[in-house]
Amino acid sequence: GGDRDRPVLLLEWYDRNRRLLPWRALPGETVDPYRVWLSEIMLQQTTVKTVGPYFEKFLARWPDVEAMGRASLDDILRMWAGLGYYSRARNLHACAARVLRDHGGRFPDTEADLRALPGVGPYTAAAIAAIAFNRRTMPVDGNIERVVSRLFTVDEPLPKAKPRIHALAATLLEPSRSGRDGESRAGHDGKSRAGDIAQALMDLGATICTPKKPSCVLCPLGDDCAARARGDQETFPRKTPK
Ligand code: ADE
Repeated sequence: GGDRDRPVLLLEWYDRNRRLLPWRALPGETVDPYRVWLSEIMLQQTTVKTVGPYFEKFLARWPDVEAMGRASLDDILRMWAGLGYYSRARNLHACAARVLRDHGGRFPDTEADLRALPGVGPYTAAAIAAIAFNRRTMPVDGNIERVVSRLFTVDEPLPKAKPRIHALAATLLEPSRSGRDGESRAGHDGKSRAGDIAQALMDLGATICTPKKPSCVLCPLGDDCAARARGDQETFPRKTPK
């Protein structure tokens, strides 16, 4: 597999092996930016397993951003109880109200405009832009850091390696067709799958490229992985000794 094959291998793997998570659209369904936003806020500091039931509960009570924008902060805080980091719940309320007031109830579809919303940092803006709007950008979480640092044997330790890992992660996206900026909607044919590539890497990190004993024989990028070739997968990502 040369460099160009990686996006294809990731997408083929994702289409066969992706986790069925409550916020993910089924193949052929349209992605709902509200669901993507809600899940990404919940997933900021909470595991996929814990988020599941909370996500369902929130969605049943407030099915769209308009409903949540009209909810009281107290009701949102009560529903949030148990998830921790309560500033997220306050931001949820503020963000829904802002999307109603300033954006006519539609989430903005660029990374820059998303970044301006309460509770939406660089990672979350990239995640929503990629997953909900297929913007050509890569949200890099801890799982993706591990996958990428192994694939390319990034010897520099975290957190110093973050910019390099981010740049390498972006090379796993499909090539941009317009070739202009990193945030153009790739392709007039509408076939950019940046969000699926990002989620493929998240799923790989969660299920195959695990911190201990990764299942490299099952990995779509296994033949291409520099750490696997060296046999020192578990030593990545490198960390500065405490
Ligand atoms: N963690 C954060 N966002 C995620 C997503 N969309 N799928 C799986 N894990 C995630």
